[in-house]
Amino acid sequence: MDNVSEKRIPPGPKGWPIIGAIGSIDFSNMADAFFALRKKYGDVFSFCVLHKRIVVVCGGKAIREVLNKHLDAVSYRADGFAVDNKNGYGIIDSSGEYHKAMREFTTKSFRDFGFEKKGLEVIVKEQTVSFLERLREKQGRPFNVHDDLVVSISNVICSFSLAQKFPNKDAALLTAIKENDTVVSDPFRFLPVFVPERLLKLVPGDPFGVWIREKSTNNVIRFMQEHLEEHKKTYDPSYERDFIDAYLNMQNEKGNRVFSDENLLRTIYDMFLAGTETSVSTIKWIILTLLHHPDVQTKMREEIESKIGRTQMPTIDHKPLLPYCEAVILEVQRTRNLSPFSLPRLVTSEIEYEGVVIPKDSIVFPFLHSAALDDKVFPNPEKFDPNNFLDERGQVTGQNRIIPFSTGKRVCIGEALARMELFLFTVSMVQNFKLLPEDPNNLPPLEGVIGGVYVPHPYKFRAVVIE
Ligand code: HEM
Repeated sequence: MDNVSEKRIPPGPKGWPIIGAIGSIDFSNMADAFFALRKKYGDVFSFCVLHKRIVVVCGGKAIREVLNKHLDAVSYRADGFAVDNKNGYGIIDSSGEYHKAMREFTTKSFRDFGFEKKGLEVIVKEQTVSFLERLREKQGRPFNVHDDLVVSISNVICSFSLAQKFPNKDAALLTAIKENDTVVSDPFRFLPVFVPERLLKLVPGDPFGVWIREKSTNNVIRFMQEHLEEHKKTYDPSYERDFIDAYLNMQNEKGNRVFSDENLLRTIYDMFLAGTETSVSTIKWIILTLLHHPDVQTKMREEIESKIGRTQMPTIDHKPLLPYCEAVILEVQRTRNLSPFSLPRLVTSEIEYEGVVIPKDSIVFPFLHSAALDDKVFPNPEKFDPNNFLDERGQVTGQNRIIPFSTGKRVCIGEALARMELFLFTVSMVQNFKLLPEDPNNLPPLEGVIGGVYVPHPYKFRAVVIE
């Protein structure tokens, strides 16, 4: 049990001996369960599952205070939380020295290759153009945008990390992506987050999907490895072309204890895993929302036409000219928060917050959804209204009230890239196409499935070229 007096531990349901809250919290509908617990116990509540204390932090103020004021105390990932990664390689699952080294290296590479040289914007624009071409080929017929979007978005991250782009129908890539979807967006069988995977693997029939996830992870990693080997054949230490070359040079300089081949492979995998389904699903939410709000779509188009015209390709420098478009994207991120529970952090030293103590060794979940849908901050939180992010002069305001990319030492490493993708894909699409429902009398639901990420149900729509 925790070394903190019971009185100061964040309040919450007591649960049962040994199994804790299993059975008393509906883990298949965690968002609603957490909203109800917040109402009852306040912004920081806790419960036990088997041997672990889980602390859920709700609302913008508490999330920022716990994650930003105690940067080091919550910088470790909870052990065994996701797919098997016993060695702690990569970025998502790693902790301590390995995590710090890989995060710093990747952030620097994003800066050097991506943002300073505008390399990433060129890649995103290239992929936007090929995405628009594929939309045009549909000739206004109803279709499901998932595969087309996924190829373009994953090509952005593959261009950066594998220095490779894949043709639209590359079978190996599509298989890898489907496997990736299995890992990221399978409805969260939530127990694997709390219980060591090695125990869950013993349960017959794989009800928690642990073996499926391991298999799909290994398949995607194998795909990455083949491309990495190819890339290495043309490596020249005197000429750094990209992320992998920079890594190999670092390996030569610092030795291969931290900068090992395995760590490189896992880091590339992590970027593919975290950088594909997240942006794809957000763009799918944007399209779906615009099908429900044609007036908003028209207003965006009017803004685009008046500020950058019909033919000029949008660039990231146009963002300040298009505040309404940006407000729409922010409002979709608020109402359809992609990562409702963020990712769990391990507490490595005690944290005090407003009279309660989050004990060492507990697991913190920043409940990001609760900040986005907080009725104290957004008076009508469920209602889609881009004005939530516009001031009286029509300029963007109040972005910091939502935390879609989390915060603190493990804030999403791809935030700037993701924001660029959302802006360029959305604005280009609305500039070139009217997005219309397949059946105007029967709109696809604006609801989805909460898995590792919150994804919309599959739907079809029509993209009609604006002449
Ligand atoms: C709309 C798109 C995206 C959203 C909403 C999103 C959201 C998040 C969130 C909530 C986290 C958890 C941070 C934490 O532990 O507190 C995260 C982590 C991460 N994201 Fe993203 N993400 C997006 C796109 C991307 C992209 C494009 C990349 C590409 C590189 C990426 C790479 C990562 C990585 C590597 C981590 C792990 C960071 C760490 O543990 O240090 N994400 N993201």
